[in-house]
Amino acid sequence: MTGRIQMSVVVCCLVLFSGVSGSDLRNSITIQDGGYENVLIAINKDVPEDQTIIDNLIDIFSSGSGHLFTATRRRAYWRNITILIPKTWTPKPEYEPARTESFETANVIIDTANPEWEDNPYTLQLGGCGVHGEYIHLTPSYITDRANSEYIWGSMGKLLIHEWGHLRWGLFDEYHTDDDGVQKFYADSRGEIVATRCTDQLNGEALNINTFAPCQRDRDTGLYEDDCFYFPDLEGQTSPGSIMYAQFLDSVTGFCHSDDGPGYHNREAPNKHNKLCDSRSAWDVMLETDDFIDDNNPPIEEDFDTTPTFRLVQARDRRVALVLDVSGSMGGNDRLTKLNQAATQYLRYTIDDGSFVGIAHFSDYSRIIENLTEITDNSREDLVMGLPSIANGPTCIGCGVLDGIKILKGETGMEDPAGGYILLISDGQQNRQPYIDEVFDEVEEAGVIVDTIAFSDAADPNLLELSVRTNGLGFFYPDTATSTALNDAFTATVSTRPGLSTETLPIQLYSGALEIPADGSVDDTFLIDSTLGVDTVLTFSWLDDPINVVVTDPTGAVIDRTDATQYNRDNTSQIIAVIIKETAKTGLWRFSVDSDSDEKETVLVTIESKPTSQTDAPITVNAIVGSQTIDHTVTPSLEIFAEVRKGYLPVVNAGVQAVIESPGAATTYLPLFDNGAGADITKNDGVYSAYFLQFDNNGRYSIKVQVNNEDSTASISSRSKRSSRGLPLSPDRYTPSPATYEPAEPFARTGSGGVFEVENFVAPTGDELAPSRITDLGVIATSYDNASVTLQWTAVGDDYDQGTASYYDLRYATTFDSLRENFTTSDPFMDHQIIAGNLSTVGTSGVVESLVVELPARGDKVVYFFGIVAIDEAGNAGDLSNLVSASLEYVAPITTESMMTTDPEATTANPVEPNSGLEPWVIGVITAASVVLAIAVGLVVVMVCKMSSSSKKKVDTNYNGASYNEHATKSVSEYDNNAYLA
Ligand SMILES: *[C@@H]1O[C@H](CO)[C@@H](O)[C@H](O)[C@H]1NC(C)=O
Ligand SMILES: *[C@@H]1O[C@H](CO)[C@@H](O)[C@H](O)[C@H]1NC(C)=O
Ligand SMILES: *[C@@H]1O[C@H](CO)[C@@H](O)[C@H](O)[C@H]1NC(C)=O
Repeated sequence: MTGRIQMSVVVCCLVLFSGVSGSDLRNSITIQDGGYENVLIAINKDVPEDQTIIDNLIDIFSSGSGHLFTATRRRAYWRNITILIPKTWTPKPEYEPARTESFETANVIIDTANPEWEDNPYTLQLGGCGVHGEYIHLTPSYITDRANSEYIWGSMGKLLIHEWGHLRWGLFDEYHTDDDGVQKFYADSRGEIVATRCTDQLNGEALNINTFAPCQRDRDTGLYEDDCFYFPDLEGQTSPGSIMYAQFLDSVTGFCHSDDGPGYHNREAPNKHNKLCDSRSAWDVMLETDDFIDDNNPPIEEDFDTTPTFRLVQARDRRVALVLDVSGSMGGNDRLTKLNQAATQYLRYTIDDGSFVGIAHFSDYSRIIENLTEITDNSREDLVMGLPSIANGPTCIGCGVLDGIKILKGETGMEDPAGGYILLISDGQQNRQPYIDEVFDEVEEAGVIVDTIAFSDAADPNLLELSVRTNGLGFFYPDTATSTALNDAFTATVSTRPGLSTETLPIQLYSGALEIPADGSVDDTFLIDSTLGVDTVLTFSWLDDPINVVVTDPTGAVIDRTDATQYNRDNTSQIIAVIIKETAKTGLWRFSVDSDSDEKETVLVTIESKPTSQTDAPITVNAIVGSQTIDHTVTPSLEIFAEVRKGYLPVVNAGVQAVIESPGAATTYLPLFDNGAGADITKNDGVYSAYFLQFDNNGRYSIKVQVNNEDSTASISSRSKRSSRGLPLSPDRYTPSPATYEPAEPFARTGSGGVFEVENFVAPTGDELAPSRITDLGVIATSYDNASVTLQWTAVGDDYDQGTASYYDLRYATTFDSLRENFTTSDPFMDHQIIAGNLSTVGTSGVVESLVVELPARGDKVVYFFGIVAIDEAGNAGDLSNLVSASLEYVAPITTESMMTTDPEATTANPVEPNSGLEPWVIGVITAASVVLAIAVGLVVVMVCKMSSSSKKKVDTNYNGASYNEHATKSVSEYDNNAYLA
């Protein structure tokens, strides 16, 4: 076993650094001779016009570029930066038209924060150590109110380097992040209580934030009391490290490293960086990214000007060329009907007024059927008339693409196609020139974005390449009777790009396939929450025999075929649309679909609705995959993420699952969790994650995600819990209020996650995958009296984060280094040392585990370090967890003086009792915990009801019972845990 664990540590590093991708959907930054190019900053369309934002961005990125050069030891700087100005701002001659730039793919976004959430810059990171982040978010006030921003976070240029460390190299914060369970202080190998920081050469003082008195220690943890904060000295520091800790210190100009000398990495600090990067220094992680590995971009000796060049571009209207395959193969399997149904719904209900659409059909040549036409109530039907009715002939995809560009050049052929979209749909292999790769140059020159839908797995493999090159979206429709992927793809091309719209866009509530038995009917429900209800549209499409639909609102009022204004039956397209004229009532709606057919028949259902308010943001879901192309022999897994939020506020404890349709025609329901374990790197940030492992063949896989709060388990956090922020200069200058949780009303959402492609698939022979690495091992209590420590962690699975591991190997040592370097020969816990819990009873992935252990010694400077490994029944061992320490020194009871305020009046007139000295924010935490507990009790009741409710004849709608209950079980254990901590 010794050998296995050590080997798997090596494998871990290979896996971490071979496929450094993050999601592929972001604008891709390149680096040439040390200069980063193609960096995209985008301003949201709702940010009020303000020239200062542009001027200041240019200024802080220019100074930041010099800091970047210093921090990378002369290896890198920003050479070219593009700023995307929204179309809502006044056009200026110096703005070029935007090409493939969009707000939704930008690397740096400028957007207002939610009112509750302040201007602290942060980076959204979904992947682990060394993996690119998604974007840096800066608020307009952070950029314009420079005096305040510098007062709180110090140099704005250096703060950008901190965020760049998150975004570009997958580094994490080196300070304490309470949200991730990282304490402000820890016991080091010498037995001292010290601040969580990098380096430990930085000096400062531990003070009570209310009294500014020296901190006292808490008997329950052996560490300092909760109100104790570390105040780094603002003057007189000499260490250059680290920007991921305290970018505001004048002496700090670089990253922690493992070379001797100032700035040496502190690997004992239990910060998020060490947890996720296996205690390797920021510099060492950076050097292994593609930017610097193999001596890429070596130091530049000569001096030069690091100021970047800026290009200003402005977004234009949404212009779409629908380019549709009408070659012979589209004639079979009702393909043309299915395409027309999805395209009809898109043209009638999805694409927003004010956009422009044109249509081309291609087979062995291409024809423009509709010139670019502005979307109005009247033009929608004209465009529907332009959908194809006949399919024959060979396939020339390049011809279609060129006609798409022609459409975007307008009727005169003189307009600039840049920034326009081609939505290309094809089911075939191209067999007439020009081929796709022969039109890459024209596409690039035109500056258009190509979204592609591969219609069936026979579609040309180059389609995805075309999307990836142009920052477009790629989708796969497996062409099975029950797949909703075609409708979902059409919707996603609009809904994931709100930046182009002047009006609010529809949100998808429901997308499913109902299998109607012969001569029978199927009922289902959907939820309208109070943020939605405008222009609500239900569509039901069928392929064989006509169907009938009845819709019932929450008050029992019925809409059926007798309702000529709201019920629209289209026998040509074979779609029934129910269009709710008024704002749809909030609550649970029902519908019933019946068929007279004497055979069973499948009906696709989609439900969309628009927000009722411009100011109260609706909850949205955004699905993201870790990579769009997978070499299965190298990486037999894929991270799937779903970001569920209301504006920028995370929605936690919702039921979330991904539905994956594979080339082998299997459908996998994968529950996603926001528990900070396995694929999920941050707990309670509204990003739900899991590994997909159920590959069954080479080819394309389609993903959608479903979010459900029918059972009212979800709540909305009052502020983002995302870490990856910059530390404020002094803890008393900026103490963000702790997150509070407001229960979310019942809601449901669905969204497309696009496509990923698998190559070199090898069928597994037996249990090959090890459990994930545990990254959240924590000490939650210590007792000097019993010489005991309470440990806690989240269970990982048998294969990564799926299933149940077999047992744990938990060991301890008296120094960090000996445990880290000699884990397998360190002391394991003997049965008599385990006071509560059990190492061989393992919870299912996601369950919070805890254990109380007794240690051999206690007393002056006595400290222990702990590490854990999960092992499956085949003996596959996960990687060694993060290491944590506990002090077993005697701690005297806290004296009440330290709880008192320094205000003399308060001391005399209002003697503070030990329990009443709580600051309002502490009370806030307690309240939040009680709310969570109350919700937990509610959940148990709901679960019982849910389990006894009858099963539905659904093929693929919002939840299938098995995976739902699995999720509920896990949620309950998480709640139990919160209650326990409270
Ligand atoms: C990048 O900047 C350099 C000068 O700094 C300039 O010569 C080059 O054209 C720019 N490239 C782009 C793509 O903007
Ligand atoms: C598109 O516009 C051109 C130029 O006005 C015209 O010649 C052509 O007939 C139009 N095509 C269609 C399909 O309306
Ligand atoms: C690890 O074990 C080896 C062999 O017993 C020993 O030489 C080495 O000093 C140990 N390392 C640490 C950090 O204790």
